[in-house]
Amino acid sequence: MRSPSSMFRYSSLLLPFCLLGFLVLYCYANQVDNLYKLIKSRRSENPPQPEAWPAAVLDDDDDAGSGNNFSAAYVGSQAGLEKADKVHALPGEPEGVDFDQYAGYVTVDPKAGRALFYYFVESPQNSSTKPLVLWLNGGPGCSSFGYGAMQELGPFRVNSDGRTLHRNNYAWNNVANVIFLESPAGVGFSYSKNSSDYITGDKRTADDSYTFLLNWLERYPQYKTRDFFITGESYAGHYVPQLAQTILSKNNITKTIINLKGIAIGNAWIDDNMGTKGMYDYFWAHALNSDETNAGINKNCDFVTGNFSNACYQYQSQGDEELGQLDIYNIYGPVCNSSIKQSHAMDSVNNFDPCSEHYVTSYLNLPEVQEALHAKGTQWAACRISGWTDSPTTILPTIMQLIYGGVRIWVYSGDVDGRVPITSSRYSINTLKLPVDTAWRPWYSSNELGGYVVEYKGVILATIRGAGHTVPSYQPEGALTMISSFLQGTLPPPS
Ligand SMILES: *[C@@H]1O[C@H](CO)[C@@H](O)[C@H](O)[C@H]1NC(C)=O
Ligand SMILES: *[C@@H]1O[C@H](CO)[C@@H](O)[C@H](O)[C@H]1NC(C)=O
Ligand SMILES: *[C@@H]1O[C@H](CO)[C@@H](O)[C@H](O)[C@H]1NC(C)=O
Ligand SMILES: *[C@@H]1O[C@H](CO)[C@@H](O)[C@H](O)[C@H]1NC(C)=O
Ligand SMILES: *[C@@H]1O[C@H](CO)[C@@H](O)[C@H](O)[C@H]1NC(C)=O
Ligand SMILES: *[C@@H]1O[C@H](CO)[C@@H](O)[C@H](O)[C@H]1NC(C)=O
Repeated sequence: MRSPSSMFRYSSLLLPFCLLGFLVLYCYANQVDNLYKLIKSRRSENPPQPEAWPAAVLDDDDDAGSGNNFSAAYVGSQAGLEKADKVHALPGEPEGVDFDQYAGYVTVDPKAGRALFYYFVESPQNSSTKPLVLWLNGGPGCSSFGYGAMQELGPFRVNSDGRTLHRNNYAWNNVANVIFLESPAGVGFSYSKNSSDYITGDKRTADDSYTFLLNWLERYPQYKTRDFFITGESYAGHYVPQLAQTILSKNNITKTIINLKGIAIGNAWIDDNMGTKGMYDYFWAHALNSDETNAGINKNCDFVTGNFSNACYQYQSQGDEELGQLDIYNIYGPVCNSSIKQSHAMDSVNNFDPCSEHYVTSYLNLPEVQEALHAKGTQWAACRISGWTDSPTTILPTIMQLIYGGVRIWVYSGDVDGRVPITSSRYSINTLKLPVDTAWRPWYSSNELGGYVVEYKGVILATIRGAGHTVPSYQPEGALTMISSFLQGTLPPPS
């Protein structure tokens, strides 16, 4: 089965079909397209409201009228569920799988019937001492299982036949035990019995993810005190810091302590104004946009307030059109042409196939695969969400709170992504005016230049050379070197 997303690859074409109003996303698309739509949809607010998350937001729970009272998150009995969630084997997996896999649901709201799907892979070696890592993809509305696990950092990738798997030797479960969470409800296999839950936002996503973690740690109590890290990419530049902040503030008032040590966010959307400026400057610096367009954008767009004039929007549209038909995820890479059949012999973690999303969609819709994963039988799609209600225009205040909270923070960036490029990350971090602790320098992975790194007081910024938006898809070895350094709390190797 072909996913319809190939139609949406050229993101600027799809706005008329998908944009039904303020923050209403209703169509199947991919991770980058959903992000693009969200950003563009803010036109209807001029300038957009920041809605940064002060501590107060965290106490203001959904149940109206609770005032400053903390309403405890739901925690249900998890007895026997770890065993029930064990995946004996994934259909089509290669021989010699030497680690344990689990998959299933965690109920986060029994009244509404809301449950989140996760896939958990332990490390082949010394899993009982390795850290616990949560991975989140963005969108909003895109699947951490279909992207993160099956196309990026998971132990398997789907072959071009859409039915069998090959091993990813650079999977992050070499260095950690990794949970992939499909979040919020409505995404991937995660669901709610109340369909009004499918109109959701950042706040609900963070609350449900927090409730998921509390229950998951009851199901897997051996992980309760383990060092815990949250990682993710793209729009998870919102989810990851917001969940971290939720954990910090709830650790403070409940007896349950989640042992959060750090966060790492890749090609992460963290500030609308600096993100947009960085994107168009990247287009210009990488010869994708004309001098005139870039000058027009920088002259007419007020990137301080985000109150964009009509002239600004016109120049931005011109910049989008000048791109032509390229893969904005990976500006120097090929685009998917599904009429060219890839030979099975080419299936390898070392050359990322731009049609991978189709193979994953086929695989995850096989009834035997859904059964092996303990998933509710459903039409699985890479991205799906009906509407997005709340999304701060900047996450930088949240990041500042995490710095004060002593959380290790890495912002990493594949340097050939055009959607949330390195310039967007740099401009965003630069607004924090953090002093430099370790100057910009190259880092290496297997004697090859892997990228560059600079350590600010409180934030480490690392690039991954030659990687697109989904970093481990394109540079699996470099990505593993980078994340290993992050988990160890060291800078990536200087030689
Ligand atoms: C918390 O709830 C209790 C009982 O509902 C109420 O008596 C108390 O005033 C509330 N406290 C605050 C700070 O709202
Ligand atoms: C596992 O842990 C043992 C004991 O700490 C150590 O000797 C061994 O090298 C570790 N193996 C791996 C692959 O990390
Ligand atoms: C579904 O959720 C909405 C919004 O929270 C609520 O108003 C409604 O009563 C719920 N419907 C059912 C059937 O529970
Ligand atoms: C923790 O609680 C103390 C005392 O209530 C408060 O001053 C502090 O701001 C809280 N910290 C966080 C991270 O919420
Ligand atoms: C935004 O800019 C327009 C002019 O381009 C101005 O008329 C409007 O008042 C501004 N809005 C705000 C909230 O500053
Ligand atoms: C895909 O490849 C076929 C066969 O080479 C070619 O005819 C077709 O034009 C290509 N389509 C696109 C969109 O590039």
